[in-house]
Parts: sequence; C-alpha cells; structure tokens
Amino acid sequence: MKKPFVAGNWKMNTDSHSSVALVKEIVSGCSNIAGHNVDVALFPPFVYLQAASKALSSSDISLGAQDIFYEQKGAFTGEISPAMLKDIGCSYCLCGHSERRHVIGEDDELVNNKVVAAINGGLLPILCVGELLEQRETSQTQEVISRQINAGLAGLNDQMISAVTIAYEPVWAIGTGHTATPQQAQEVHAMIRELVGRIYEKELAQQIRIQYGGSAKPANAAQLMAQPDIDGLLVGGASLKAEDFLAIICAAA
Ligand code: 13P
Repeated sequence: MKKPFVAGNWKMNTDSHSSVALVKEIVSGCSNIAGHNVDVALFPPFVYLQAASKALSSSDISLGAQDIFYEQKGAFTGEISPAMLKDIGCSYCLCGHSERRHVIGEDDELVNNKVVAAINGGLLPILCVGELLEQRETSQTQEVISRQINAGLAGLNDQMISAVTIAYEPVWAIGTGHTATPQQAQEVHAMIRELVGRIYEKELAQQIRIQYGGSAKPANAAQLMAQPDIDGLLVGGASLKAEDFLAIICAAA
C-alpha cells in the first residue's frame, strides 16, 4: 500500500506572521498524529517559503513551491528557478495548477517544461490536471485529462516518472464547496492510472501517487481516501486552518 500524501496549497494567502504561525501549529499538531503513516507537504507563497523552511526544520513535513520556472538561472525577470527553491529547502513544486492554467494562461507545453525542469533540478513535481465544468457537462473530461496527462509527462523516462505525483483537481470543485463525489473522483483517478500505465510499466502506474483536490475538507476526506485510486489530497482553503488541515491529515493517515 502506498503512503498517503496530503499537501496544503495556501495559494495567495497568509502574511509574514500568520504563515509562520500556521506552520508551527501544523508541526505541533502533526507530532501528535499516531503512526505518522502519511506524507505531508506545505505550499506557502514564495515570499514566505524561507521563513516556513526555518519553522519546519526539525519536522518531517516537506516544503513545496506553488510554481517554478523551467530555466535554472539567467535573465528571466520575476521568475524563480528549481535551484533557488532547492537552495531554501523545498522538495516539491506544483506544476500546472488550474489557476495558473486558467487565470495566468499556462499551456500544456509550458507545464511540461516545468515538470521536466523540476525533476532535473532535483525537485518532486506535482502535476495538476482537471477539467472545467463545461467540459464535464459536454462529456469531454476523458479527452481533457488524457491530453493534460500525455502532454504533461512528455519526455519523462521511467526514472523521472517515479519523482512525479499527479493531482486531479476538477476546476468546478476548486474553491466552490462542490466536492466531486468519491465515485466521480475515483473514476477519473482510475483513468489517470490507466493512462500512465499505457506509457510506462504497469508497476510504475501502480506506484504513482494520485491526489484529489477540490473542496477537500474534514467532512469528506475519509470517504475520498477510501477510494482505491485516491492516494492523497491536495487541499486549498481547508489547509489555511490548522485544525481542519490536521483533521484531513488524520483522516488520510
Ligand atoms: P480548495 O480546496 O480551496 O477547493 O482548493 C483546491 C486546490 O486548488 C488545491 O490546489
């Protein structure tokens, strides 16, 4: 059985004081979780990563960035490289989060460049995929997810794919309170695993962790985690309240 993986994406929230306070609350809460049979990672905004890294230093919670750039250094004003993130203690980064795809306009090729650069830079990428409401309503979910998975993983060999986590985040479920039902989520997770199995060895497809994201909360975490192909949760809003995030971690552990 794979170790569950719960990640908190803080998006553009918190400030210098509350980010460190939240990290400390989560660290202290996690130390009381029996068995520790769960991987946990926090994704604060870039500007608070270093402070968060310090506050996490004596815990086994990992740190991640919400985005990266695909070059390692140079004249790319405003961008942050994988090397810089490694340097301040990040292990993970999100690639292709739906808000970057749909608000900022990132396309599949850019997302793939980021996934490759993350791995080459020693980071563990979480490739985010998900369909829009109108795509689900017009039966395009399978087509959209296949495209995002195939394009997102393009050029990755067997060794590289083992660094990847995939997050299925239906766009209509993000920040809306309308969580996908466990059955809806399981259906897409199984499809993603099958897609990965068509490109790589079946064993690698079985091993890859697929998180669900989209209005995950304490009330639905256990039911989602009970699905055979749901290996973790990528939590937005509920990760900003230590009590809720810890309850989700407990449900996954
Ligand atoms: P919410 O949990 O707020 O719906 O956000 C999900 C998400 O986008 C995590 O990356």
